[in-house]
Amino acid sequence: MINNIIGHENTKKQLAIAVKSAEDRNKNIPHLLFSGAAGCGKTTMGIEMAKSADVDFLPVSPDDFSDREPVMRILDKLNHVNYDERGNRTGPLKPTMVFVDEIHRMPKKGQEILGIAMEKFLLETGKANKYYWIPFFTLIGATTDDGELSKPFREKFKLRFLFETYSNQEITAMVLMHAQMKELLITQKAAREIAQRSRGIPRTAVGFLERSRDYSHFIKANVITSKAVLDNFKTIGIDSKGLTGAEIKILKTLHTSREPIGLDNLAIVSNEAKKNLSHTIEPFLIRQGLMIRSGKGRVITGKGRQHLEKDGYLGDSINKVEISPGYVRR
Ligand SMILES: Nc1ncnc2c1ncn2[C@@H]1O[C@H](COP(=O)(O)OP(=O)(O)OP(=O)(O)O)[C@@H](O)[C@H]1O
Ligand SMILES: [Mg+2]
Repeated sequence: MINNIIGHENTKKQLAIAVKSAEDRNKNIPHLLFSGAAGCGKTTMGIEMAKSADVDFLPVSPDDFSDREPVMRILDKLNHVNYDERGNRTGPLKPTMVFVDEIHRMPKKGQEILGIAMEKFLLETGKANKYYWIPFFTLIGATTDDGELSKPFREKFKLRFLFETYSNQEITAMVLMHAQMKELLITQKAAREIAQRSRGIPRTAVGFLERSRDYSHFIKANVITSKAVLDNFKTIGIDSKGLTGAEIKILKTLHTSREPIGLDNLAIVSNEAKKNLSHTIEPFLIRQGLMIRSGKGRVITGKGRQHLEKDGYLGDSINKVEISPGYVRR
């Protein structure tokens, strides 16, 4: 059973089947590729899988697969128990899970050497047609940039899973689970408020939970309440949709402009770097339906204007107090 992972029911089922089959055949689990957005559970799934299969988990940097010697040093760390000197199995195996994060960064040479190891469980000796045997192992590759992997290397991974953002409900469940793991008391409503601002990303939710804990500790409260959570979000400048000050600034700029604004101008007006705007800030706003990129430039949507209105970004902070004509100002 794969624990501590909310959602991914289908993935967990497929992985449980693969674990059972590997045990029964006394072989390794097929190599796995986890791709998708940052902070959405790839590393956690790898760790939890190794736990559930009761095998070693060996995290390795892609840069360490630079040449034959370093690869050999890594593969030396695989579980060698229950093989004879020629690599034949002599008992039940516990094939190590090797976890390589950001695997698309692995040098080409490393991919070639590792590719043979993954398929044939052999390693080049450096002499023509001479190989060393290596123990069975499972490679788990994680990547935020699936498209960067070469096709032949990608195809060595027989099971491939996509990690996307989660629903509010799933994130709420994660907040409650992580609170329990950290022995924190939190109300359901507070967990929902955190989830609503986490953009579907577990790492963001866990980070917000920790900041809410710190805030509650600061105000000497034993339970994390929705009031504490909301006060803290105000302090750190995160709004009801999880937008940051920089994102709000963009929306407000678009709101006040009569014309669509091109990237160059938006960068100048908002004082944000162009790359940051187009790669980080805009995609989320567009996905949320708050703005669009049209041929003529960037435009705020009706939903975007509504959001500014609702969260009180449009009202002036002055002239809100009614003053009678006879009042004398100091
Ligand atoms: N499905 C999930 N259920 C419960 N907690 C989760 C889930 N996915 C992620 N988390 C939690 O979110 C945090 C980030 O997850 P993790 O480090 O596994 O993401 P990642 O996909 O490996 O990110 P990166 O691409 O940045 O390496 C961890 O604290 C993890 O426990
Ligand atoms: Mg990770």
